[in-house]
Amino acid sequence: MDFLEFLSSVSPVTIFYALVLLILGFIITILIVIRLTTWNSVPMISRFESEKCYKDPNKNNATYPFPFMEEEGSIDLAVIVPSYNEEERLPIMMNETLEYLENEKKNKPSFTYEIIVVDDGSRDETSKVALEYVKKYGVHKIRLLTLEKNRGKGGAVRIGVLSSRGRRILMADADGASKFSDLSRLQIALEDLNGKKGNKAVIVCGSRSHLQDEAVAECGFKLFTRPAALLTFSALHVERWFQDDSLLELATDGQGSTFDQLAICCRGLED
Ligand SMILES: *[C@@H]1O[C@H](CO)[C@@H](O)[C@H](O)[C@H]1NC(C)=O
Ligand SMILES: *[C@@H]1O[C@H](CO)[C@@H](O)[C@H](O)[C@H]1NC(C)=O
Repeated sequence: MDFLEFLSSVSPVTIFYALVLLILGFIITILIVIRLTTWNSVPMISRFESEKCYKDPNKNNATYPFPFMEEEGSIDLAVIVPSYNEEERLPIMMNETLEYLENEKKNKPSFTYEIIVVDDGSRDETSKVALEYVKKYGVHKIRLLTLEKNRGKGGAVRIGVLSSRGRRILMADADGASKFSDLSRLQIALEDLNGKKGNKAVIVCGSRSHLQDEAVAECGFKLFTRPAALLTFSALHVERWFQDDSLLELATDGQGSTFDQLAICCRGLED
């Protein structure tokens, strides 16, 4: 049976339905393509299964899922510590951080915090060192997020931030370059910008440079309100941002409307 014979043997109604189906299929394909190519408001963050959980060394290493991209924070401050091969410097930084945070808690018992150590695929014992702190302070205060592969600082911070519970989120460095005495000044600057009960998207960063122009490049601590952190770290250009480490550039170079909503303040901090 050749094609023409075949055609004449099917009824016009069947041909009509086949055509309608064909056209519908075409339209749906086009819609799917449009959706896929324009939908970038949802961040493409893939995590290994092991990166979705933290271990509790006080409960036989039982694992619990990290919260992920929760809108609302449930504790006052989350400190994110990206660490790559930091087994030596991490204890110094952790001791200093814990001393500050525990002291805050002593002065104000309702204050709650967490430290998230993000082991960025280290080849040394960074995770083991961190886990000892988790064991000592408990998973409510310290959590270890061990990445399967090295993602670079931007990637490590991003996963740490999105897995955190803080209403305020502080990015610190495992090498301890930033000083905790700066934090209270940053907090004051942040609340200034944020208003009394505000929950705006605000970032403040401290700088130890005396020259205002260089202030940006020398940023130490960066303190975010939760909305600012979610906006910033669910955006797609974050990895690049960390390469040149210039927060203000990101905020002002027209990366889209996202950053119009951010108030950013970089203060020079004098010793
Ligand atoms: C928990 O894991 C750590 C590191 O992987 C290990 O050193 C420790 O022995 C484990 N503890 C238990 C109770 O299994
Ligand atoms: C950190 O603190 C612990 C407990 O107080 C102490 O044993 C350890 O030596 C300290 N490490 C450093 C590097 O300061």
